[in-house]
Amino acid sequence: MSLLSKDLVTIRQLGNKEIELILDCAASLKEVSTREIKKVPALRGKTIVNLFLEPSTRTRVSFEIAAKRLSADTINVSGTGTSISKGETLADTARNIQAMNPDILVIRHPAAGAPLLLSKILTCSVINAGDGAHEHPTQALLDMFTIREKKGRIAGLKIAIIGDISHSRVARSNIWGLRTMGAEVTVAGPPTMIPVDAESLGVKVSYDLIDAIKDADVIMMLRIQRERMAESLFPSLREYSRYFGLGYRHLKQARPEVIIMHPGPVNRGVELESALADSDHAVILDQVTNGVAVRMALLYLLAGGIIETGN
Ligand code: CP
Repeated sequence: MSLLSKDLVTIRQLGNKEIELILDCAASLKEVSTREIKKVPALRGKTIVNLFLEPSTRTRVSFEIAAKRLSADTINVSGTGTSISKGETLADTARNIQAMNPDILVIRHPAAGAPLLLSKILTCSVINAGDGAHEHPTQALLDMFTIREKKGRIAGLKIAIIGDISHSRVARSNIWGLRTMGAEVTVAGPPTMIPVDAESLGVKVSYDLIDAIKDADVIMMLRIQRERMAESLFPSLREYSRYFGLGYRHLKQARPEVIIMHPGPVNRGVELESALADSDHAVILDQVTNGVAVRMALLYLLAGGIIETGN
């Protein structure tokens, strides 16, 4: 069975079966990164361009590592080094890259909808590596992979997502993905950070940290994104941290085996107590490790790879 669509622009295009397929493919590819020679020839002869027009550490590096572990040729293009800084439009830049015949274009862009635009005008595959405050589908997939790996399942789990839900592309993609996979999702944060129509996404809404994490199997903390805030949505970082920062003292409210997730980068001492970020409950670095396997799976499937599903 192969992934049907040419592109991955939103997690909403994936149903339960497609998500399972990607996670299963990632599970079989994860082992490659533990070998002494961390390379398989699956994408030999394929060309992947990583076009990152917004800062990134985890996503950019893991897409490049994923492509190299599959033996693809990779080219990294970043904002300051492109002709966009000379006034070229994104569409023209993308058309020029396509004229060099890549197979996959991975794009991160500060504007919501940029990957969708490129998916419509390019014949190569387009992967959304984060578009503004809209979506981050590969982050949601690696988060679901990590949850399934740690908990053995996703369906029926109680998952609390805490923080700036309104500005978070990670929250939006995770809510859609986790709901598709049958998890029970609660979002919490100050009222200024929760979309007014949040319940229409099929989640429970709370404005209280303790209430939101009660009996949670998974707590996903979000970064305070000062760069996307047009205005201050809370009086001070100290006040935010006091009411919505997660610390050891809160964990007795959750299930004993609760895992703490964070997409990174972490504002230590703001949304998450530093010692808790380094504790056995935290799976933050497992998320990063799994990001390589999930992105290998996506590159492989979008490049036309097939896996046996037994169906
Ligand atoms: N999680 C995430 O997208 O991190 P980067 O911004 O470092 O890629």
